[in-house]
Amino acid sequence: MQHSHIRNFSIIAHIDHGKSTLSDRLIQVCGGLTNREMAEQVLDSMDLERERGITIKAQSVTLNYTAKNGETYQLNFIDTPGHVDFSYEVSRSLKACEGALLVVDAGQGVEAQTLANCYTAFDMDLEVVPILNKIDLPQAEPDRVAEEIEDIVGIDAIDAVRCSAKTGIGVEDVLEEIVKRIPPPVGDRDKPLKALIVDSWFDNYQGVVSLVRIMEGELNAKEKIQIMSNGQTHQVDKIGIFTPKQTETGVLRAGEVGYIIAGIKDIQGAPVGDTITTAKNPAKEMLTGFKKVKPQVYAGVFPVSSDDYEDFRDALSKLSLNDASLFYEPESSAALGFGFRIGFLGMLHMEIVQERLEREYDLDLITTAPTVIYEVLTTKGETITVDSPSKLPAVNDIEEIREPIVEANILVPQEYLGNVITLCVEKRGTQTNMGYHGNQVALTYELPMAEVVLDFFDRLKSTSRGFASLDYNFKRFHGSDMVRVDILINGEKVDALAIITHRENSQGRGRELVEKLRELIPRQMFDIAIQAAIGNHVIARSTVKQMRKNVIAKCYGGDVSRKKKLLQKQKEGKKRMKQVGNVELPQDAFLAVLKVG
Ligand code: GTP
Repeated sequence: MQHSHIRNFSIIAHIDHGKSTLSDRLIQVCGGLTNREMAEQVLDSMDLERERGITIKAQSVTLNYTAKNGETYQLNFIDTPGHVDFSYEVSRSLKACEGALLVVDAGQGVEAQTLANCYTAFDMDLEVVPILNKIDLPQAEPDRVAEEIEDIVGIDAIDAVRCSAKTGIGVEDVLEEIVKRIPPPVGDRDKPLKALIVDSWFDNYQGVVSLVRIMEGELNAKEKIQIMSNGQTHQVDKIGIFTPKQTETGVLRAGEVGYIIAGIKDIQGAPVGDTITTAKNPAKEMLTGFKKVKPQVYAGVFPVSSDDYEDFRDALSKLSLNDASLFYEPESSAALGFGFRIGFLGMLHMEIVQERLEREYDLDLITTAPTVIYEVLTTKGETITVDSPSKLPAVNDIEEIREPIVEANILVPQEYLGNVITLCVEKRGTQTNMGYHGNQVALTYELPMAEVVLDFFDRLKSTSRGFASLDYNFKRFHGSDMVRVDILINGEKVDALAIITHRENSQGRGRELVEKLRELIPRQMFDIAIQAAIGNHVIARSTVKQMRKNVIAKCYGGDVSRKKKLLQKQKEGKKRMKQVGNVELPQDAFLAVLKVG
């Protein structure tokens, strides 16, 4: 296809504003799939994504659209994820595009995350085209939301297309806007090949599949390619586009987006952000890639049964074939035995990984409370990074603990401003900016990352009835008075229950944690003492009283099946228990810290 007839675009939208529904409509209108093939939300290919209704992996689809001017255009749509945890994936999708549709729910308005993604798009010189979706809803206020887009995002939006991805109204206008407003790609097809790896994933049958955007030159099947960062060469096996079905074309030229398969065995062999060139006529310089993502939250994950350790390790290595952001290393805990310390992009990523491990690999796992990374200056003058409370050096060896600080951008309607400010203050935040845009207030806070990653998002949502939105980025490390609070069960320190917290909050958190654990730990045949301590100094204590009767006694020797059922129930409950010393702790106990403070 000629450059002039290609349009490469992404959709920037907040979760639930209708990106998937609109994508499906675009595919349908362009005839990418027959109605029968039109499974619901084709772009979200993973089961889990579908269930949770969120998009995680970037995928693409190439559509042919015959515009009102009679010309046929090739539209390459590159999907982006919508959640705060995955914003780095948005920027890499945008890198392959000349434009982005900014889809805003006309009943809701602009959200912080969409705003952040818009700024990324502006930085990359993309044309941002506003679209007001869900105009079929009675509560839709397209005029107000258009004004809000102008005011907060700073682009013209009065003439923005108004559509309903659900009913199909205005969807053709969206396609016309794409053709009219998004510039065609540039890039010399006669120059040596430069292809940007936008995404790579592992397919059980085909090995690594990479989504690429050809920036310069062209690539043909059977050609020998070179991955520029590591110099590895591979022979291209298949090359083509997603329509959304995988369709071989045998060639991709500058300006186009598609996939290549070249017998690469793991995704580290085709890293996202890397440049592919040909071995015969290599390009001199690489394209500027993407920022490498670093995990922000670390947690220990342990198999409930130590027999599962090997299976767990295999599962992790398989999972990491598809998830380049997954980081893990072996860890052992006195309480929980052998497991892994896993780094995640955020809490949602952690939940998803844990769920996939349990569901797809049939493992029963115990996860410890997540921690951020701290920088610790030791009295010897060394700076070390600490990703687990148990790795914190002894108090006497610590000169200073520095905690990660994020810059958080929050958008909130005025009526909830007070609540949000109260929350930020409680979370040790410092306000750095505040601006009014119509009814919305834009707040910027510096907040400790530890306070943000755990439950801040949920608290923000509940304190603003779901209206406030959040986006945040790591800013710097900052010296803080942090301490480790140990938890002792019947006098034994349980390493997996320790937390790092600010000294000011340590007393309160320790007390709440002990209280929460008392509720969570089931009664056993003896009293269980729970204590929170900083060093040798106990700051809180509580007791789980011993059990009085056993469960079966309740059945008065009644019918046997009932008894069996009860025992079965007890057994299932036990599945997630971990024996620590002589006490059985449920999974919830290890995450109790998430439920306090
Ligand atoms: P992520 O995949 O998580 O990023 O969400 P999304 O932005 O793709 O949202 P999705 O398309 O899944 O839509 C969210 C909800 O809004 C679904 O229940 C859709 O049916 C509904 N929805 C989408 N577009 C419209 C619309 O135009 N009108 C109405 N009434 N509902 C819509």
